[in-house]
Formats: sequence, structure tokens, C-alpha cells
Amino acid sequence: MQDMRMKQGIWVLAAVLLLGGCKAGGDYQGMEYAPNMYHSVAYEPLTQITDEGYGVMFNSLNNGRGEYYNTNKFNPFAMNMRLPAPNTVRRTANGWLPYRGANDTTGLRLSNKLVNPLPDAPSILEQGKLLYDINCKHCHGAKGAGDGKVADKYPGVANLTGDAIKGVTEGHIFHVITYGKGLMGAHGSQVSEEERWKIARYVKQLQKN
Ligand code: HEC
Repeated sequence: MQDMRMKQGIWVLAAVLLLGGCKAGGDYQGMEYAPNMYHSVAYEPLTQITDEGYGVMFNSLNNGRGEYYNTNKFNPFAMNMRLPAPNTVRRTANGWLPYRGANDTTGLRLSNKLVNPLPDAPSILEQGKLLYDINCKHCHGAKGAGDGKVADKYPGVANLTGDAIKGVTEGHIFHVITYGKGLMGAHGSQVSEEERWKIARYVKQLQKN
């Protein structure tokens, strides 16, 4: 009888301990079994684990820290990511300043004067064709005649080789890709500045043929 009670007692104790780990809510996710299956040990830009002692029992380094502590307590919100210095201006991958032409009629007019910064090289045209085929061909057609597959369903696609558009500058095309125009949507978020200049070069080539 005594033995039986003891066994029952052990089970109750085990159940209490196990269920105690299930308490979760708010910022506390509950006790985790094998936390390295949930959390990256590598630094992450955003905060993952802010409790410095979290997982300390698994840490073999004996540095008093949790094995899974991977944040920077000196940064706001313990993020690993740092904010850029005040007044920093983003540069593109090749060191250019971002395009700051305004998205209005004045911006469009001024864009005519922009000069394509890329060299006059066959490789630029080649890459321009590749990018045009990915981003523009389905509307404007392989040769720019405004006869892409989408143009069947999407009326008003411009013929880039027509008299109205033949004379536009590469800067104008760059601006139109960036912000869109009329019925054409903006492509600035999909196509980088360097890619836009490559496409503009290629569109001029299409217009010559
Ligand atoms: C979803 C279809 C679609 C896609 C994709 C598209 N365009 Fe257009 N594009 C249009 C339409 C429609 C117009 C006519 C806009 C208007 O005048 O209302 C136009 C007009 C233009 C014009 C003439 C602007 C002017 O001055 O009148 C240029 C240049 C141009 N597109 C270039 C491009 C390039 C380069 C790409 C690829 C990066 C591209 N478009 C992708 C639909 C598209």
C-alpha cells in the first residue's frame, strides 16, 4: 500500500512538472525541449532571444550565458541590426546616388536630359535584351511594337518603335520604367537602377531597327 502511494505520488509530481512547462502566453513561448531546433545560434538582424541566460544549461563554454543568446543588448530593442548614421544617403551597388527625379511632369521633362552612365558596349546591350525580355516583352513585344501577349488583353500598350516614342531619350525611358506612365505601372521596385539603364539602351537599339 505504501509502495503504491509512492508510485502515484511520483506520477503526480511528474505530471505537475511536465504541465508546468506548458504555460505560455504573451512574450513567453513556454518551456522548449531542444531549443536549438527552434532558434538559430547565428546572429539575426532582428531580435530572437533577449534573455541572456536562456539555454544556459546547454552552454558548454561556461561563460554564464545561454547557448542561444544571440542578440546585442547595447542596441535598441536588443537588435543586432544597426541603424545607419544620421543623414546617410543610400548608394547603389556601384556607388551611384539613388535617382531623385520627381514623379511628376516636371520630373519627366527633366529626365530627357539624363545621360546613360553605362559604357557603350555590346555586353550592356546583351544584358539589356535579357532584362527587356523578362520585364517588358510580355506587353511591348519582342521588337517593341506593342504586340506582346499581354497587349491582347491590356489595351493601350505603347508601340515603342512608333513615331510618337521613337525620339525619346534613354533618360526618359529610365524615368518611365522607374515610375510608370499613364496606363503603365511603375517598375522601379523590380528593376534596379543599373538594370533600368541597360534596358533603356536596348530599347533605343530596338527603335533603330
Ligand atoms: C503591363 C504591361 C506593361 C509592361 C510590363 C511594361 N509596359 Fe511600358 N507601357 C505600357 C502601356 C500600357 C503604355 C502606355 C502608357 C500610356 O501612355 O498611358 C506603356 C508605355 C511605355 C513607354 C512610352 C512612355 C511615353 O513616353 O509615352 C515606354 C518608353 C515604355 N512603356 C517602356 C517600358 C519598358 C522599358 C518596360 C520594361 C521595363 C515596360 N514598358 C513594361 C505597358 C507596359
